[in-house]
Amino acid sequence: MEDVTDKVFRRLVADHGEPDVLYTEFTSAEYLCSSQPEKALVRLEIYEKELGRRPLVAQIWGGNPEQMYRAARLVAERGFAGVDINMGCPVKKISRKGACSALIRMPSVALELIQAVKEGARSVSPQIGISVKTRIGWSKVETQEWCGLLLEQQLDALTVHGRIAKQMSEGWADWQEIAKVVQLRNASGWSTRIIGNGDLTWPQLEPRLQETGVDGLMIGRGVFSDIGIFRREGYRPYDTWSREEKLNLLERHIRDHFEAWGQTKDYEKLKKFFKVYTSGWEGALDLRAQLMSTHRHEESLAVLASYRAFAP
Ligand SMILES: Cc1cc2nc3c(=O)[nH]c(=O)nc-3n(C[C@H](O)[C@H](O)[C@H](O)COP(=O)(O)O)c2cc1C
Repeated sequence: MEDVTDKVFRRLVADHGEPDVLYTEFTSAEYLCSSQPEKALVRLEIYEKELGRRPLVAQIWGGNPEQMYRAARLVAERGFAGVDINMGCPVKKISRKGACSALIRMPSVALELIQAVKEGARSVSPQIGISVKTRIGWSKVETQEWCGLLLEQQLDALTVHGRIAKQMSEGWADWQEIAKVVQLRNASGWSTRIIGNGDLTWPQLEPRLQETGVDGLMIGRGVFSDIGIFRREGYRPYDTWSREEKLNLLERHIRDHFEAWGQTKDYEKLKKFFKVYTSGWEGALDLRAQLMSTHRHEESLAVLASYRAFAP
């Protein structure tokens, strides 16, 4: 997730659960191939130990096969276990470029991009996984046609978010449509793993698996309200975590963010996380408000230290 799953947050989440696979933020192939790729390369940064720990997949996006070929090579050279192609982001400034969810309307381009990514990535690493993340349609549900076509491409995995592009994040994800993709895959005999995505919180994980027969579940926003959502044994609902546990997470996130990025990343983006760690006890909102008015890591650490010193 953009501005969320950088190496700092991935490590923090992995230390509090057992996700099977983690994904990078989506990364523009065009920027990766430009003369100043630094801003895009930052999204593919990993901790050295991360690669051996569990599969890590880099997600890329674009509309130009040549750029996607080169971006996929670059991802493979960096040792990622897989390349995921974003064909689901509905944001207009991106779909206007003929990329991401716009590809649902341009199936022949989508197929060219998949081919380019396969060739690019496998020219470096023949075993690398190739996957697509998409939605169930553009302006209407077209699961059978669109996901059926994607399944024919013999991808290693297909992640299906149960909304159409026009919906953005409105309404609820349609898990019956996700189940249809599983049925299509089963009927076809292809081995593509189907991963369901949309509105998942911890109590729904097991029922969604059972109802739909998907091979995996992708959790997005659910992690914001439950840092331990990937915990198998010994899961504890996040609202039972103590204040001190949440403040420790907050402190760690700020320190790790500073150590990893210093002032090179926009500090404002870190504020997205403050809510995650400041909820569930009296006084949490006051602390959050103080944190939101900070502009540097030292300031938020000072706010936290003074809160700890004076909080009852
Ligand atoms: C802040 C934010 C950033 C996101 N960035 C990405 C991204 O980079 N790539 C992607 O495939 N989806 C991205 N998404 C979409 C999520 O992966 C997911 O498909 C969507 O939020 C629905 O699933 P959820 O209900 O589990 O969050 C993003 C969503 C949010 C809220």
